[in-house]
Amino acid sequence: MPESVASYAGVLAEALAAVGQATSEEALDALRVRYLGRRGAVTELLRGLAGADAVERPRLGAQLNAVRRRIEEALEEAVARTREAGRASARAAETLDVTLPGRRPPRGGLHPIGRLIDEISEIFLGLGFEVREGPEVETERYNFDALNTPPDHPARDAGDSFYIRPGLLLRTHTSPVQIRTMEAEDPPIRIIAPGRVYRRDALDATHSPVFHQVEGLYVDRGVTMGDLKRTLATFVRRFFGPKHRVRFRPSYFPFVEPGAEVDMSCILCDGRGCRTCKGSGWIEILGAGMVHPRVLEVLRGRGHDPADYTGFAFGMGIERPFMLRHGVDDIRHILENDLRFLARFAS
Ligand code: FA5
Repeated sequence: MPESVASYAGVLAEALAAVGQATSEEALDALRVRYLGRRGAVTELLRGLAGADAVERPRLGAQLNAVRRRIEEALEEAVARTREAGRASARAAETLDVTLPGRRPPRGGLHPIGRLIDEISEIFLGLGFEVREGPEVETERYNFDALNTPPDHPARDAGDSFYIRPGLLLRTHTSPVQIRTMEAEDPPIRIIAPGRVYRRDALDATHSPVFHQVEGLYVDRGVTMGDLKRTLATFVRRFFGPKHRVRFRPSYFPFVEPGAEVDMSCILCDGRGCRTCKGSGWIEILGAGMVHPRVLEVLRGRGHDPADYTGFAFGMGIERPFMLRHGVDDIRHILENDLRFLARFAS
């Protein structure tokens, strides 16, 4: 039956062309159904064989089966081809570009206040001072009594200081390290004592209930106010820059006599007067003075006569010089530990 043979060839040609164009497994599945499924074109032709001439039927059947096998083979090859193409494009998408720069893990670092303390310590080490530390939970004796602080001094009030129990409190300044050092060591003593201190101060732009100080103490025979001035002027020049000056204003602290508050020329306006220095040209940076003879009494504990010695002491807040130096206008930025702020000071 030439007609039938021609239509077999037509179906085969059409099926192979469609398979050749299919680009997905889904499309190939649909073609399998269209040609070889229960109602597919080839299946229909096979069914049509029932009405064919009995003599011709075996030959036509063999041809149709050949068509069927050819389409099956084409479909199998096409499925294998699309799978390999899919794998190849997945491999291409996954290809590593070894020339891309790596992602750096975020690196930790010292807090800027810790680094500032290290820097200040380095300057004083260069001037012959050694570093000492004291406890943050301190007795009233070290924090007040031995520092000649009268019983009715306002700093002793529970409204000003954090008490743990009567007689024991969070130190309000680093000055107790003066006493602890003089109890433990013989003069000459030349130390600084950096650390954290606590006060019941309300948090605002320039005050925090927890902040840092660096204490300084120099006790020897013949130490004078001139030594104090020279030491602090040298520190200010090395820390803030060579053109900065210091000035001393008389002030009162129970543990020094005479006592002074020390100002430096304003870092922002260079002494001309601006908002930061409130027009004065000067900024207060620390308290200082000559160690009070009553404080030197502690030297007797190691067999020394306090009358043979004099000394100077100073106590400096850390956060305010830090703010001055970096133009930070609110102490809370330093305490909050926002990484975006800290990253500005990462080295
Ligand atoms: C003292 O604490 C004395 N112990 C300093 C001293 C030592 C004087 C040795 C004489 C001899 P004063 O209370 O002024 O002094 O504090 C010193 C510095 O701490 C201040 O100049 C200021 O910079 C800083 N400071 C004080 N209170 C706060 C606060 N709430 N927040 C941040 N810094 C503060």
